[in-house]
Amino acid sequence: MGAERFLLAGVMGWPVMHSRSPMLHNYLMKQHGLIGTYVPLAIKPEHLAPALRGLAPLGFSGCNITIPHKEQALRIVDEVDDVARRIGAVSCIAVRPDGSLGATNNDAFGFVENILQRQPSWRADAGPVVVIGAGGGARAVVYSLARRGAREIRLVNRTRARAEVLAREFGPPVTVVDWDDRGRALGDGAMLVNTTSQGMVGQPPLDLPLDTLPTRALVSDLVYVPVETPLLAAARRRGNPTVDGLGMLLHQVRPAWQAWFGIDPQITPELRACVEASIPRI
Ligand SMILES: NC(=O)c1ccc[n+]([C@@H]2O[C@H](COP(=O)([O-])OP(=O)(O)OC[C@H]3O[C@@H](n4cnc5c(N)ncnc54)[C@H](OP(=O)(O)O)[C@@H]3O)[C@@H](O)[C@H]2O)c1
Repeated sequence: MGAERFLLAGVMGWPVMHSRSPMLHNYLMKQHGLIGTYVPLAIKPEHLAPALRGLAPLGFSGCNITIPHKEQALRIVDEVDDVARRIGAVSCIAVRPDGSLGATNNDAFGFVENILQRQPSWRADAGPVVVIGAGGGARAVVYSLARRGAREIRLVNRTRARAEVLAREFGPPVTVVDWDDRGRALGDGAMLVNTTSQGMVGQPPLDLPLDTLPTRALVSDLVYVPVETPLLAAARRRGNPTVDGLGMLLHQVRPAWQAWFGIDPQITPELRACVEASIPRI
């Protein structure tokens, strides 16, 4: 990595300007003294293939992939690793020395590392885990929980059929719970994870009374705008330990930087504070 090379990376999405990734990566580039930049790449879905094929000739080290491209990217890149294949979505692409594109999914890594940084004694097999939602985020969460030995994952989604697809793919330990029974599913839960977009700025709070959830259960949210969602605030008020979704985003930087630049950056409180300061409180 000589000084003659201006390092380039970015995030492809549509829309993409709301992404915190450019701020996060550019903060780290400055901290590591790298000469380069990380840019938001607003790519329409019909332009994803030519945009990805342009990465190598433009000199990009790689890019992150966000909504709505995570599934389509699977079919465009040259190689998809096992994690992305099992999750069924791509979150990160590396341009390899021969110009070919290798894809992975770092959402699962980010989810687990964030939980462990905040709650070092956390174990996926501590008891039933209730996962709300069955979209892309849920797929990464279910994959991580299953890999880490969760014995029972209760999957609750507004559209039951989507949860059933996941249960078939991942097999036991996943069981599907009806949306109307979501309150009851919390009864003896050791962990609750919201993977829906509910609670995000502009969306109503997740409609889930916590009355039956044991107060020792860990409550985690993938939503990070705001950092403390109404769900996390309600859980904190009743004494549950909570983990927000911002750390999941931050920890995904580590495997991405290893693949792009051969560097393992530290996720420091200063980095978190810098990104958090840009997120509106509601
Ligand atoms: N922290 C991180 O690093 C990270 C990583 C990934 C995702 N996320 C966040 O996670 C959230 C979901 O992302 P995603 O990629 O999984 O999205 P997605 O694939 O579009 O899935 C959205 C999920 O939300 C559910 N949902 C939407 N509106 C709902 C409503 N009114 N009531 C109940 N459920 C509703 C959907 O249920 P249906 O199937 O019924 O439509 C689906 O399960 C987003 O806020 C995203 O920013 C964060």
